[in-house]
Amino acid sequence: MDINSVGIVGSGTMGLGMAQTMAQHGVNVTLVKATPGSTDKAQATLKKSLERAVSKGALREEELEGVLGRVAFTDQLDPLADCSLIVESIIEDLETKQDLFRKLCKIVPAETILATNTSTLSVTALMSVCEARARVAGLHFFNPVPLMSLAEVIHAFETSDVVVTALVNFCRRIGKEPVVVQDTTGFIVNRLLTPYILNAIRLLEQGTGTIGDIDKAMRLGASHPMGPFALADYIGLDVVNAMAQNIYEDVRQQYTATPHTLTRLVLLGYLGRKTGKGFYDYTQQPAIPNPDLARPVA
Ligand code: 3HC
Repeated sequence: MDINSVGIVGSGTMGLGMAQTMAQHGVNVTLVKATPGSTDKAQATLKKSLERAVSKGALREEELEGVLGRVAFTDQLDPLADCSLIVESIIEDLETKQDLFRKLCKIVPAETILATNTSTLSVTALMSVCEARARVAGLHFFNPVPLMSLAEVIHAFETSDVVVTALVNFCRRIGKEPVVVQDTTGFIVNRLLTPYILNAIRLLEQGTGTIGDIDKAMRLGASHPMGPFALADYIGLDVVNAMAQNIYEDVRQQYTATPHTLTRLVLLGYLGRKTGKGFYDYTQQPAIPNPDLARPVA
């Protein structure tokens, strides 16, 4: 089963990161903006990321136009009819994703692989709305996609071995190292990473250490590239919150419950880097720990 052209639905950080990675490895991509409207912003963001790759020496300048030319932008699903693989990376809401899968099933042939980049939703629940289910799987990338080596290939209830093998081979072709995971909430990485971040927040709430010191401890003591707070801000606190809720819904264990501090930050719209404030305040240069979090939690 050869994967020659890929459709990606969702032109956010993950969708764009996937498109960049695939196009840098010679794959033609159709990138669909999931909400109707201009794709100018997405195109500009991709170009900026490729220019950064050039400045970092990860891409040769003369290759840039070729990579850009391999990504076609649209806000329609119909151009996906000829793709051999479609990966959705839209909002983390099961009904919205199921609705998209229903539409895709009407547009593409029964052998087209339908994959989801969901963080913590059930691939099997997405599969349930399709008639041809063996072609539905998970293909989960990590942010920032062009830099993170791993991809999780999720083998859901009725996914065929042929589809899993095709996805594993495709991951290697685009420079990713795949692991095959059964369909469990959070798969491997988010299932372990989310409680780790929640635990760091609990340590902060208990006064064990400051944001800066907890991050420093994990960077220097465990060789993590970022501490848990910098990472949570990087992922987006709304995303961390949603992952925590989905995992809690499944395991019902206290260690997966959402700490008050996270709930409050999300309620106030402090979602991390993307909003300029989260556990750190990015409006300051360099970013400083959010001063509102220096007081004890009531
Ligand atoms: N495109 C392609 N390559 C690029 C690039 C771009 N736009 N920008 C940089 N690069 C290359 C550079 O050339 C460099 O390559 P080299 O190592 O061969 O020289 C490499 O990428 C590293 O670049 P930087 O020096 O800019 O990056 P850092 O070394 O500072 O690392 C980081 C940045 C990768 C973000 C690192 O801090 C990190 O790994 N953080 C943790 C990220 C993480 O854990 N992500 C997972 C989150 S969970 C998730 O995503 C799941 C989801 O479901 C929520």
